[in-house]
Amino acid sequence: MTGIGIHDLAVATGHHVLELDDLAERLGVDPAKYHVGIGQDAFSVPAPDEDIVTMGAAAAKEIIDRHGVDGIRTVLFATESGVDQSKAAGVFVHGLLGLPQNVRVVELKQACYGGTAAVQLALGIVARAPHERVLVIAADVARYDVDTAAEPTQGAGAAAILVSADPDLIEIEPAAGVFTADVDDFWRPNDRSTALVDGRLSVSAYVDAFVGAWDDLAAQGGPAYGDIVRFVHHQPFTKMALKAHRKLTQHVGVPFDESELAIGFTYNRQTGNTYTASLWIGLAALLDLDDDLAGERIALFSYGSGSVGELITGIVQPSYREHRRTGRVRNLLDARVPLTVDAYRELHAAGAATSEDVERPHVTTAPFRFAGVRGGARQYEAS
Ligand code: HMG
Repeated sequence: MTGIGIHDLAVATGHHVLELDDLAERLGVDPAKYHVGIGQDAFSVPAPDEDIVTMGAAAAKEIIDRHGVDGIRTVLFATESGVDQSKAAGVFVHGLLGLPQNVRVVELKQACYGGTAAVQLALGIVARAPHERVLVIAADVARYDVDTAAEPTQGAGAAAILVSADPDLIEIEPAAGVFTADVDDFWRPNDRSTALVDGRLSVSAYVDAFVGAWDDLAAQGGPAYGDIVRFVHHQPFTKMALKAHRKLTQHVGVPFDESELAIGFTYNRQTGNTYTASLWIGLAALLDLDDDLAGERIALFSYGSGSVGELITGIVQPSYREHRRTGRVRNLLDARVPLTVDAYRELHAAGAATSEDVERPHVTTAPFRFAGVRGGARQYEAS
């Protein structure tokens, strides 16, 4: 059988952007703390008629527009900002995209790790039925309370990934390194719309998971460090990837080269934390670079608080550059409408999910919108 992996990848984000310079000014913080200290410049904020479903559907639409629906029999939607405790967000997407009825849809959760879990499940489905393709959607809105240390690390975004045999972009290798530890570093109880976090513990738990996943990958017969040309990490804030990677290089006993990692940060510095989508938006940034990575091995590290980490590797396919849509994500980011700090905080206060009937104003210019709640049920429509 040919290899299995990532055939295509599309990204979506929120309608608005908050520049961290503006937040720094409001909070009386040196902007360098954000740009240099945590490595972030801005974060995306959804419009009142956007959420994980509309962003996920926008990213998935790009994939369906390019490849059609043939062979897609499974949609896996990974999120930790689900809009319903029972119905999978992917079922709304199924309806919005008019997917055929002979498609199974399910939602997956383990903090930011859910997207990678979905990709692993997709690889397994395609291994069993190589003629099938699996649509993976990872979408999240990262929300913390305002006036907390975590406020500048919010964000919003989605990635849609088409997993298939004989992929155009990246063939995923079979060995994977995994690491699970029961840690209270970050969580969101059912009665909260914002996450609770022990910031320092979360940083060390991420580092432990990265090193632990590396050791497991090595034990599973994974490649040597020197055989990997690029690493892409989950990026809650981009400095996190640097911190973790520095520790890994000490662990392995190799020099640390910051500049090799920073190239996968361009989009995430702008979207903020996108939880399940973060790693895949980082991958999109890497593939959009001018460097020719054809035939090279890259590593992808996913971390979900709580916690589960997984490190996988893949071979960038020879003709990947012909299949990229370079400029697409940059245009999306540049098109976002800036918010003042007051306007962002107003949206933040109104951002909690509700079952009260409500109509949402038409703001988004994305392909789909959240129209509001009627009879307690969320209503979505084409914009
Ligand atoms: P803080 O209290 O603002 O941190 O919280 P700080 O005071 O330690 O400052 C941060 C860095 O800025 C430090 O650098 C300072 O030195 C530097 P470091 O020592 O770490 O290298 N700094 C400056 N640099 C330049 N110029 C200056 C300046 N001032 C200070 N003037 C924290 C930071 C990340 C903890 C907070 O934002 C937070 O709690 N965020 C949310 C949690 C988080 O993102 N954790 C990441 C790991 S967990 C994870 O990845 C999972 C997650 O995505 C959720 C999921 O899985 O679902 C979060």
